[in-house]
Amino acid sequence: MTTITILPHPEYAPEGKTIEAQRGLSICKNLLAAGVEIEHACEMVCACTTCHIIVRKGFDSLNEPTDMEEDMLDKAWGLSAQSRLSCQAKVGAEDLTIEIPKYTINHAKEGH
Ligand code: FES
Repeated sequence: MTTITILPHPEYAPEGKTIEAQRGLSICKNLLAAGVEIEHACEMVCACTTCHIIVRKGFDSLNEPTDMEEDMLDKAWGLSAQSRLSCQAKVGAEDLTIEIPKYTINHAKEGH
Protein backbone atom coordinates (compact mmCIF):
# COMPACT_ATOMS: atom_id res chain seq x y z
CA MET A 1 0.00 0.00 0.00
CA THR A 2 1.23 3.45 -0.85
CA THR A 3 0.44 6.42 1.32
CA ILE A 4 0.41 10.17 0.85
CA THR A 5 1.23 12.29 3.85
CA ILE A 6 -0.02 15.85 3.63
CA LEU A 7 1.92 18.37 5.68
CA PRO A 8 -0.22 20.65 7.84
CA HIS A 9 -2.20 23.18 5.81
CA PRO A 10 -4.67 25.58 7.46
CA GLU A 11 -7.50 24.75 5.09
CA TYR A 12 -7.01 21.21 3.83
CA ALA A 13 -5.30 19.45 6.72
CA PRO A 14 -4.82 21.64 9.79
CA GLU A 15 -2.92 18.95 11.63
CA GLY A 16 -1.52 17.12 8.65
CA LYS A 17 -2.98 13.90 7.37
CA THR A 18 -1.89 10.55 5.93
CA ILE A 19 -4.09 8.85 3.38
CA GLU A 20 -4.00 5.56 1.52
CA ALA A 21 -3.26 6.08 -2.13
CA GLN A 22 -4.00 4.09 -5.22
CA ARG A 23 -1.04 3.57 -7.52
CA GLY A 24 -1.41 4.80 -11.06
CA LEU A 25 -4.00 7.37 -10.04
CA SER A 26 -3.04 11.04 -9.88
CA ILE A 27 -2.21 12.61 -6.54
CA CYS A 28 -5.11 15.02 -7.07
CA LYS A 29 -7.63 12.21 -7.51
CA ASN A 30 -6.26 10.39 -4.51
CA LEU A 31 -6.57 13.51 -2.37
CA LEU A 32 -10.13 14.16 -3.49
CA ALA A 33 -11.08 10.52 -2.89
CA ALA A 34 -9.84 10.90 0.69
CA GLY A 35 -11.83 14.07 1.25
CA VAL A 36 -8.96 16.51 0.87
CA GLU A 37 -10.62 19.10 -1.34
CA ILE A 38 -7.61 20.46 -3.18
CA GLU A 39 -8.46 22.98 -5.88
CA HIS A 40 -8.60 21.67 -9.43
CA ALA A 41 -10.01 24.57 -11.39
CA CYS A 42 -9.43 23.17 -14.89
CA GLU A 43 -10.92 19.77 -13.96
CA MET A 44 -7.50 18.12 -14.17
CA VAL A 45 -6.61 18.77 -17.79
CA CYS A 46 -3.27 20.50 -17.11
CA ALA A 47 -4.61 23.96 -17.93
CA CYS A 48 -4.29 25.75 -14.59
CA THR A 49 -1.99 25.72 -11.59
CA THR A 50 -4.49 25.50 -8.76
CA CYS A 51 -3.64 21.86 -8.04
CA HIS A 52 0.05 22.69 -7.54
CA ILE A 53 1.81 20.76 -4.79
CA ILE A 54 5.38 20.41 -3.60
CA VAL A 55 6.57 16.83 -3.21
CA ARG A 56 8.83 16.67 -0.16
CA LYS A 57 9.38 12.91 -0.28
CA GLY A 58 9.06 10.37 -3.07
CA PHE A 59 9.42 12.88 -5.91
CA ASP A 60 11.47 10.50 -8.07
CA SER A 61 8.83 7.76 -7.85
CA LEU A 62 6.36 9.87 -9.84
CA ASN A 63 5.92 9.81 -13.61
CA GLU A 64 7.97 12.38 -15.54
CA PRO A 65 6.22 15.72 -16.06
CA THR A 66 5.28 16.57 -19.64
CA ASP A 67 6.43 19.80 -21.32
CA MET A 68 2.89 21.08 -20.93
CA GLU A 69 2.99 20.50 -17.19
CA GLU A 70 6.40 22.20 -16.92
CA ASP A 71 5.05 25.22 -18.82
CA MET A 72 2.02 25.52 -16.56
CA LEU A 73 4.14 25.06 -13.44
CA ASP A 74 6.23 28.09 -14.40
CA LYS A 75 3.15 30.15 -13.60
CA ALA A 76 2.48 28.59 -10.20
CA TRP A 77 2.73 30.52 -6.96
CA GLY A 78 5.62 29.33 -4.79
CA LEU A 79 7.27 27.19 -7.44
CA SER A 80 9.99 24.86 -6.19
CA ALA A 81 12.28 22.27 -7.78
CA GLN A 82 9.95 19.62 -6.38
CA SER A 83 6.75 21.18 -7.64
CA ARG A 84 4.19 19.16 -9.59
CA LEU A 85 0.66 19.63 -10.77
CA SER A 86 -1.07 17.05 -8.64
CA CYS A 87 -3.54 16.11 -11.37
CA GLN A 88 -0.66 15.15 -13.66
CA ALA A 89 1.54 13.35 -11.14
CA LYS A 90 0.66 9.70 -10.75
CA VAL A 91 1.36 7.82 -7.57
CA GLY A 92 4.12 5.25 -7.97
CA ALA A 93 5.62 2.62 -5.68
CA GLU A 94 6.91 4.93 -2.97
CA ASP A 95 5.14 6.68 -0.13
CA LEU A 96 4.86 10.40 -0.70
CA THR A 97 4.99 13.44 1.52
CA ILE A 98 3.48 16.53 -0.02
CA GLU A 99 2.95 20.13 0.85
CA ILE A 100 -0.02 22.05 -0.51
CA PRO A 101 1.19 25.64 -1.02
CA LYS A 102 -0.55 28.27 1.02
CA TYR A 103 -1.73 30.15 -2.04
CA THR A 104 -2.78 29.40 -5.56
CA ILE A 105 -2.92 31.83 -8.45
CA ASN A 106 -6.67 32.16 -7.78
CA HIS A 107 -6.04 33.35 -4.24
CA ALA A 108 -3.17 35.59 -5.26
CA LYS A 109 -5.39 37.38 -7.76
CA GLU A 110 -7.95 38.08 -5.09
CA GLY A 111 -5.22 39.85 -3.17
CA HIS A 112 -5.12 37.70 -0.01
S1 FES B 1 -6.41 20.86 -11.99
FE1 FES B 1 -5.73 22.27 -13.45
S2 FES B 1 -3.74 21.63 -13.83
FE2 FES B 1 -4.39 20.27 -12.34
